[in-house]
Amino acid sequence: MISYTLNVNGIDYPVAADQGRNLLSVLRTEVGLTGTKEGCDDCECGACMVLLDGQPVNSCSYLAVQAQGRAVTTVEGLQQGDEMHPLQRNILEEGGVQCGFCTPGMLVSACALLERNPSPSEEDVRIGLSGNLCRCTGYAKIVKAVQRTAAELQS
Ligand code: FES
Ligand code: FES
Repeated sequence: MISYTLNVNGIDYPVAADQGRNLLSVLRTEVGLTGTKEGCDDCECGACMVLLDGQPVNSCSYLAVQAQGRAVTTVEGLQQGDEMHPLQRNILEEGGVQCGFCTPGMLVSACALLERNPSPSEEDVRIGLSGNLCRCTGYAKIVKAVQRTAAELQS
């Protein structure tokens, strides 16, 4: 067991956990942020995706201790004050959420995509979200929500 600090969504959290614990597990149980989901636990589905210094990472396959000194952003950190992030609002309004299990990871990936490409084509969005699997929606509504958000943010 070791003690360290994780900066998550701009807040420092003291953590005491075994060195081998993955970031997903520590975020959910030690930090108490359960928006990030565990799907495959094998770096395949993207349900556990978070941002590390703005880059998407599958937190099930990343040691929590390695996130020391880096800025971790989870889906909870996308909210803007009392307002949903436009991606959150649009994915709901476009019907891109069914069971919702993939949604936190999708939102985190989409956020990173729009940071590096503010005006993505449909193909860009599909490639950008290719690490996030959804069993429910068929993806089209999610892609539309990302493109709608891009258009809103550009206007
Ligand atoms: Fe991490 Fe599936 S739970 S990629
Ligand atoms: Fe169910 Fe995507 S909405 S897995």
